[in-house]
Amino acid sequence: MFVLVWATLLFSARDSIADTGASVEKRTRCQSGFCITLNEGETTAEAGLCVVIPCSFTTSYSFTPQNIVWYKCEQSKPRCVDSDVIFQTNNNRKVQSGFKGRVSLLEPDVSQKNCSIIISDLTESDSGSYQLKVTGVTWYERAEGFTFSPRATVSVTDLIQKPTVMVPPLTEGQQTTLNCTAPGLCSGSDPEITWLWRGPGQNDSHITGNITAFKTENLTAVTQRHSSTLMFNSSAEHHGTNVTCRVRFTNNITTEETVTLNVTLYPKILNSSGCRNQSEVLTCMCIAGQHGPSAVIPWAVAVISLIVNVICIICVMFLWNTRKKVKPNQEDRTYMSLQKTDPSPEYDVIGQPSTECREDGRTII
Ligand SMILES: *[C@@H]1O[C@H](CO)[C@@H](O)[C@H](O)[C@H]1NC(C)=O
Ligand SMILES: *[C@@H]1O[C@H](CO)[C@@H](O)[C@H](O)[C@H]1NC(C)=O
Ligand SMILES: *[C@@H]1O[C@H](CO)[C@@H](O)[C@H](O)[C@H]1NC(C)=O
Ligand SMILES: *[C@@H]1O[C@H](CO)[C@@H](O)[C@H](O)[C@H]1NC(C)=O
Repeated sequence: MFVLVWATLLFSARDSIADTGASVEKRTRCQSGFCITLNEGETTAEAGLCVVIPCSFTTSYSFTPQNIVWYKCEQSKPRCVDSDVIFQTNNNRKVQSGFKGRVSLLEPDVSQKNCSIIISDLTESDSGSYQLKVTGVTWYERAEGFTFSPRATVSVTDLIQKPTVMVPPLTEGQQTTLNCTAPGLCSGSDPEITWLWRGPGQNDSHITGNITAFKTENLTAVTQRHSSTLMFNSSAEHHGTNVTCRVRFTNNITTEETVTLNVTLYPKILNSSGCRNQSEVLTCMCIAGQHGPSAVIPWAVAVISLIVNVICIICVMFLWNTRKKVKPNQEDRTYMSLQKTDPSPEYDVIGQPSTECREDGRTII
């Protein structure tokens, strides 16, 4: 357990260092009065998403930049500028078809000398090195071009990021809206977002609900957030089922996230068809509405026990009465015998030991 926690800490620490390191470690290199600032080392990105290559340059005083050209260096070409153009501000025709529409300048104003680009709809074949050339004019109106020798390197890995699914607390019978946001804030093609519902023992099926329009938010000129919402009425049948949001980018690059729905159920009281399901037997008062052989048995038991009780009470009362009749007779007889024997010697025998006792000044004999 501790090992796991430490491993997690170490990995997250390493990741954050890598993240900040990538954006902080810039390096400027100059040649003949032309300088370029690029990130040191490789910039990593995930397939389907996008990558930003941060870049800025300065030129000699007499040079006015007019056009920014980016090349993707091919291994087979000895000079990178012999490779295909992937972006050009002034002339879109020469751009390699595979990159057309995928690359944009973050700062469209070339005079700002900001050569940062964003490449969208990445595939693993976009990994490699990229080189910048700037064309323009000198102060005496001569057209000139300068190629910066430092290269920017990009590494594209498999798509790991998942969509973000937001689930509000679900209550039975109420309208619910789930929200799914695609990973990455890129300006590429709109991804396709689908919702899948997986009930117990069922195959994937498109969810029965109301999928509202797919939404794209323009965050900046070149970054967008894509999301989809799903509206449906929560019911008991949704409880414990899995809902999946699947995002498909260009080139069939897919990522998905699954959430298990937890619907708050309300017990149904006095349902005429009996209990709704087995787990609710305790909260559902089903006796009143039930009919059938199983409902007759408690009634029969109650009636029989009532009859038995009544018979018992009658028996007890009868016995009580008989006993009451006997008792007074016995007492009468005793009383009579006492009266008869009142002056009998038995009375003297009882009185004899108390001859010395006095009562009202008289000696009792
Ligand atoms: C280049 O432009 C982008 C977008 O406007 C900005 O974020 C970035 O900081 C700029 N880079 C430099 C070096 O000015
Ligand atoms: C829902 O997903 C969880 C994990 O993601 C899985 O363990 C469970 O079996 C799934 N349930 C259904 C009904 O598919
Ligand atoms: C689906 O949503 C639309 C617009 O939000 C609404 O007019 C319609 O009644 C909804 N349909 C269902 C079945 O909820
Ligand atoms: C977002 O930007 C694109 C092009 O940049 C534009 O066509 C679209 O209308 C914008 N959408 C919104 C909601 O502003």
